[in-house]
This record gives sequence, structure tokens and C-alpha cells, in this order.
Amino acid sequence: MTKTFAVIGDPIDHSLSPNIHNAAFNALGMDCTYIAYRVPRGELKEGIESLRQIKISGFNVTIPHKIEMMKYLDESSEECKIIGAVNTVTNENDKLVGYNTDMDGFLEPIKKRDIAIKDEDVLLLGAGGAARAIVAGFAKEKAHKITIANRTKERGQELAKFAASLGVESNAMSLDEAGQNAGKYKFIVNATSVGLKNEPSPISTNAINSQSVVYDIIYMPMNTDFITQSKKNLATVIYGYEMLLGQACLAFEIWHKVKAPYDVMRKVLLGGF
Ligand SMILES: NC(=O)c1ccc[n+]([C@@H]2O[C@H](COP(=O)([O-])OP(=O)(O)OC[C@H]3O[C@@H](n4cnc5c(N)ncnc54)[C@H](OP(=O)(O)O)[C@@H]3O)[C@@H](O)[C@H]2O)c1
Repeated sequence: MTKTFAVIGDPIDHSLSPNIHNAAFNALGMDCTYIAYRVPRGELKEGIESLRQIKISGFNVTIPHKIEMMKYLDESSEECKIIGAVNTVTNENDKLVGYNTDMDGFLEPIKKRDIAIKDEDVLLLGAGGAARAIVAGFAKEKAHKITIANRTKERGQELAKFAASLGVESNAMSLDEAGQNAGKYKFIVNATSVGLKNEPSPISTNAINSQSVVYDIIYMPMNTDFITQSKKNLATVIYGYEMLLGQACLAFEIWHKVKAPYDVMRKVLLGGF
């Protein structure tokens, strides 16, 4: 019987996840399908009920449900518990088990490039859901210090406290200060939504240089202003689509227990831009 997978969220119509997973099923000759299912805020309980009815085999969870989904799990992985959010769910005999592949999906392109994280300093722009998974990732890899720069100061301070609770030195500053100090950090990561609509970089890029590793987790557009300016300053750049692929491959491997066909998934993703 064909196994069905899904991504739930709202908005969902531009999600690239169905393309990525269906291309992988085709490449490996798997009898599976993956659909996008719009579940508006406030309707998660009903949304999950209908997924159970169609005997969904597994699903991804995106904005705005990643945190609330925790309530509906029968079991959750250690990563989910630490981050407090879930993006991948398996359904075995009606038991929902949650995982979070955002954290390792974020780390994967850094590891692929053989860039060391241990004892390095990180400047993280943004303090939303994605930033929390990124903090957990840098903590796991034993970064020396994480500085959070966020528009809303209190949220930045809160995330800095979370980093400290994971054993990493941390502080918070404004986006203006972050621009002035960017040259002091090995990693500079944009986890705000600034750039989605082609806005200018959230910080000044003047201090970014050839020693900087600049990572923008926005994947659409691929070349945000933050990335374009940082490339001009000869920084090593990492694209948001690489994190998207990383988390998708890890979800694929949790569900199917076979190695994800990375190159096929990458090709279809880049074709989707
Ligand atoms: N590549 C991937 O696989 C991947 C995975 C997850 C997310 N993402 C992308 O990452 C981004 C953030 O996602 P999220 O889930 O963390 O969203 P979120 O929880 O809504 O957080 C949004 C963040 O952006 C900041 N922000 C929004 N508008 C701003 C503005 N005009 N100026 C300065 N800061 C602003 C917010 O600051 P305040 O606290 O001040 O509101 C907050 O820190 C989205 O663009 C999403 O598409 C990519």
C-alpha cells in the first residue's frame, strides 16, 4: 500500500518539501507520496486528527505549529525536548513520535565544509524558533560564545539565557552593535526573516571579512543581500537551501531508514528556485 507523508503549516502553498521528498521516492522507486496540507493556526488538533484518519506514515511540521505540536506527541526525542519544538513526526500504529532535524540540518553544511565550531565565537541574528534550534546546535558542538542580536531586545536576552543553560557563554546586543562588531566573530548567522522580501541585510556587512563564515538560513531568495555583500567581502558563505536539504535528508532517513539521495534532492530543490 502506498505510504503517505505530509508537511503541515500555514502558509504552505510555496513549500518545496513535496518536490524534494517526491523526487527522492521516484529516484529510489519507493511506493510513497508526500503532500502539502494547510493547517491554519488554532486548528492543529483537528489537522492531526485528519492525518491519523488517512493513516499518515509521517509528517513535517512548519510555521506556526512547531512548538504547539509538542503537546500532541506520544513520545519525543532528546533534541525536541531541549529545543522545545518539533519538525518531524513518525506515526507507527497511531503512536506519534517527534524529532527535530532543524538542529542537525543546520550543522550539516558546516560539517560538510570541515569548518570547526569548537571554541569559536558566534554572532546569531534573530531569536525566533529557528534561532533556538541553532543555539542548541552550536552548544552541542561546543562553541565558545554565542552573541544574540535581535530587534526585540528581551527576546534576544531570553535566548542568551537559553544558550547559557546549555553551558555556552552568551550575551545579547542590538542589530546596530552587531554590525559594528561582526568582524570579531568566526560565524555570523542570519536567523531573522529579514531578506525574505529582498530587504537589505539586517546588519552592516562592512566588518565582515575573508575569515568570516556567513550563513543565511533564508532559502528564498537564495542570494539575499546579506549573502551578496558578504561574498563581496570574501567571506565563506553557506546558503539557507543547504539547511533545508539537511533537515529534509535527516527526516527522510528517520522515516525510511535508508540513506537519502542528497544529490537528487538538491537538484530538484535548486530547480525549484
Ligand atoms: N533554511 C531552513 O531550513 C530554515 C528553517 C527554518 C526557518 N528558516 C527561515 O528562518 C527565518 C526565521 O524563521 P523562524 O521560524 O525563526 O521565525 P520567527 O520565529 O517568526 O522569528 C523571526 C525572527 O526575525 C526577526 N525579525 C522579523 N522581522 C524583522 C525586522 N523587520 N527587522 C529585524 N528583525 C526582524 C524577529 O525579531 P523579533 O523578535 O524582534 O520579532 C525574530 O527574531 C524565516 O525566514 C524562515 O523562512 C529557514
